[in-house]
Amino acid sequence: MSDPRQITMIAFMQAQNCSNYTGSWRHPSSHSDFLTPAYFQRMARVLEEGKFHVAFFDDRLAMPDRYKNDHVEAVEGGVRVVKLDVTTIMTVMGLASTKLGIGGTGSTTYFEPFHIARAWGTVDHMIGGRAAWNVVTSVNDGEALNFGRDTHVDHDHRYDMADEFMEVVLGHWDTWEPDALIVDKEGRFADGKKVHRLDHKGRYYQSRGPFTVPWTPQGRPVIIQAGQSGRGKQFAARWAELIFCSVRNIEHAKANYAEVKGAIAAAGRDPEKVVIAPACYVFVGETRAMAEEKFAISDSLARPIDTLALLSEAINFDFGSKPMDEPFSDQELAQLTGMHGMRDRVIANSGKKNPTTRDFVEHSGRGRLREAPIFKGTPKDVADEMEAWFKDRACDGYVLATTEMPGGYEDFVRLVVPELQRRGVYQKDYRGTTLRENLGLPMARRGDWRK
Ligand SMILES: Cc1cc2nc3c(=O)[nH]c(=O)nc-3n(C[C@H](O)[C@H](O)[C@H](O)COP(=O)(O)O)c2cc1C
Repeated sequence: MSDPRQITMIAFMQAQNCSNYTGSWRHPSSHSDFLTPAYFQRMARVLEEGKFHVAFFDDRLAMPDRYKNDHVEAVEGGVRVVKLDVTTIMTVMGLASTKLGIGGTGSTTYFEPFHIARAWGTVDHMIGGRAAWNVVTSVNDGEALNFGRDTHVDHDHRYDMADEFMEVVLGHWDTWEPDALIVDKEGRFADGKKVHRLDHKGRYYQSRGPFTVPWTPQGRPVIIQAGQSGRGKQFAARWAELIFCSVRNIEHAKANYAEVKGAIAAAGRDPEKVVIAPACYVFVGETRAMAEEKFAISDSLARPIDTLALLSEAINFDFGSKPMDEPFSDQELAQLTGMHGMRDRVIANSGKKNPTTRDFVEHSGRGRLREAPIFKGTPKDVADEMEAWFKDRACDGYVLATTEMPGGYEDFVRLVVPELQRRGVYQKDYRGTTLRENLGLPMARRGDWRK
């Protein structure tokens, strides 16, 4: 990152008309035309006007139907049940912007490395070197069932597989030397000696190559990761250039920041070249009363089904199968195969070794405006807090979810961005055109990711 340090701003979106706050699709001002390119392109223009670094799309490969093993309530409640293909949405948004980075989530458990490398490599070309890949290992049996398997892979095992997956994807991205392409109509299309086969034969994956997408304008897409468990953080420290996290407050954020930056250094990488950004919400108004009113309207949009469906989905456990006040046994907790980061947070926040379903509802904050820190008030109030977190090294930036689409981002761009710019902690313009340039990351070089 270049000097002076600047806040990295990321928009946290779903490829539906909601954010991770599912009730946001019900907000009176949310747009409903999410099955058209106009919806996503409008969003891209708002974010680019506000000099956001990245528009990011979350993803999962199944509806949240683990609760009572039924999808009907989730569908009727619009609980993130539409998930359009993120690479298409990334391209659509990229065509309506010129500087905004665009990230999408892709699973290492259910896709093949060659597929991910090709899809994200193609998008990176089509949007001029502005693509990012959020690497997830996926979370639940619904995803397994959609991909011909009965159950999801165990937590740590899927990260072991993901380590090798990364070597194959990054390996393929390296196989076209940057100057391999010639396109001389009188001569050669490309230099055959500068396009290599990968010939990967590992424990979990085999992929021969040659890869079919040339070196991209930023070398390769930026790598995002958001593991929250010990194993997940270790994986992020090894591979990620942009790390998302889930924190409770500034103290927790500072401790997490120090821990993750330490893990990056321990992995032999430069911690200053990795951005750490916690998820958060912002409610801003010209007056505090207006901000409170906006918060109250949004807060009223959450329904119990949002929490239960999203908890069951994330933890990979049917919370409808257990009485609300029955504690989970040690064995049950150990056997949960979903997000260990969330399970461990509930145990820590509740102070109970054996939490109940009610504790999971209460202390995960899932599906409600309790899941991430909230910055609320006038532009000055919000900027004060965001600047303090940033300057105190609680974070390098934010993954900002809103509760009205796109109005929440319009508010932020109109009211908070100028205040942060005035204080010199937020970019007034993009530094370059590729995402790597705009994040202050070095241009990718072949093999630079190898230990
Ligand atoms: C901001 C943010 C965005 C995330 N996006 C996704 C996503 O799109 N898909 C997904 O399956 N998990 C997503 N996760 C979850 C993490 O990838 C991770 O699986 C989870 O936090 C549990 O950590 P663990 O895997 O280390 O147990 C996200 C987490 C955060 C904090």
